[in-house]
Amino acid sequence: MRVEVVKTVDAIRERLQPVRLSQDVLGLVPTMGAFHDGHLNLIRKARQDCGCVVVSIFVNPHQFGPGEDFRTYPQTLESDLAHCEELGVDVVFAPNVEEMYPEEPLAFVEVEKLGDHLCGVHREDHFKGVATVVLKLFGIVQPDRAYFGEKDAQQLAIVRRMVHDLNLQVQIVPVPIVRESDGLAMSSRNQYLEAEERERAPLLYRALQIAKEQIEAGETGSQAILGKARRVLEEEPLIAVDYLELVDPDEMQPVSEVTGPVRVCGAIRIGSARLIDNVLCEKTDP
Ligand code: PAJ
Repeated sequence: MRVEVVKTVDAIRERLQPVRLSQDVLGLVPTMGAFHDGHLNLIRKARQDCGCVVVSIFVNPHQFGPGEDFRTYPQTLESDLAHCEELGVDVVFAPNVEEMYPEEPLAFVEVEKLGDHLCGVHREDHFKGVATVVLKLFGIVQPDRAYFGEKDAQQLAIVRRMVHDLNLQVQIVPVPIVRESDGLAMSSRNQYLEAEERERAPLLYRALQIAKEQIEAGETGSQAILGKARRVLEEEPLIAVDYLELVDPDEMQPVSEVTGPVRVCGAIRIGSARLIDNVLCEKTDP
């Protein structure tokens, strides 16, 4: 049996009405499609936890900047649907842009402060677009739980804070990063990499690991920690560093001294791809 695909807001609301009235836990996995194992892991986790699993597939124009890859973002709907079917997804919500934004929207959500650093600096209005579409999806699907990957740690922190501050009745479930065997975090954008670029791309994870090792060895100064890690990236001519920072895991603010758990976050440009990654680090007590 083919997985059920629903394309309109009215139809998904109607389809989910009986689920909402039942005791079933309703889980939502928001995605932009072009699935890899990172996405599939979110879906597997939702399938384990929930009586009804909805996967949304929507490439949201409002989270792409003018020079970014909205027009060329990979679309692999048929194979995405086959994966959904295989994993036992109940419904795929796949609206088009006109359905989600019938006219230019005038209402947006902005989570202040958490988007001031890292990707927020390099992608203006990106998180405003993300928070707004996620809130719309929550309003449409009304899930009990929603699943987000730690790969997009800043996005996850922003969504959590939005849910907290706006008293939304949804539990946000974080899911660990899925990596290729050489450490590269899986991403739909890895498809943009040429062979040589693909070979060098794991250096981002390597740099994060170098930072983590220093923190675990007791180094606390962020400049020292990041300096060593940055060098690994700067020595590779194919890579341009967008940022490499240590931030606190809740509010994503840069820290100069490591006193508790920190997230090392990095973004690089390589070929036509922009890749992000992060690792959580805890200082181990001597
Ligand atoms: P997309 O990039 O398709 O990612 C969908 C979900 O998959 C996100 O929660 C993301 O963090 C998670 N994910 C991606 N790669 C992963 C990996 N290697 N390991 C674990 N999880 C991974 O993120 C978006 O779409 C959009 O911004 C969205 C939230 C759908 C709003 O438009």
